Amino acid sequence: MGSMLALTIEAILDFAGERSGHFRLIACEVASHDAYGTPRELFISFFAIIRDTLRDQLGDEWSDEMTQAWDMLLVEIDAFAGIAA
Ligand code: HEM
Repeated sequence: MGSMLALTIEAILDFAGERSGHFRLIACEVASHDAYGTPRELFISFFAIIRDTLRDQLGDEWSDEMTQAWDMLLVEIDAFAGIAA
């Protein structure tokens, strides 16, 4: 589970940044996790928990721009990985 979190963070950073390749893992894992019975919507919930944890850790350093950037990121990931499909 720890490596799942590490891979997820790498994939999110790559998706938000240079998109060199790690971001592709998101769509792969959405498909492969069907076999574990993981509902696709849980992926967005998982990413939102990562965001909330960062926000809690940053406290006053968290900004409205960060909230907006994350909102946009989650919508883009949803569309890219066909999570809502
Ligand atoms: C981008 C997000 C995710 C990544 C990169 C990821 C990655 C992985 C990897 C690499 C594995 C090991 C086997 C495999 O390749 O399928 C795994 C297993 C697993 N993942 Fe994820 N995962 C993600 C999201 C989730 C979510 C949202 C859930 C459920 C809330 C979940 C539940 C599980 C379960 C139940 C297993 C099997 C564990 C076991 O039986 O040992 N994963 N995941």
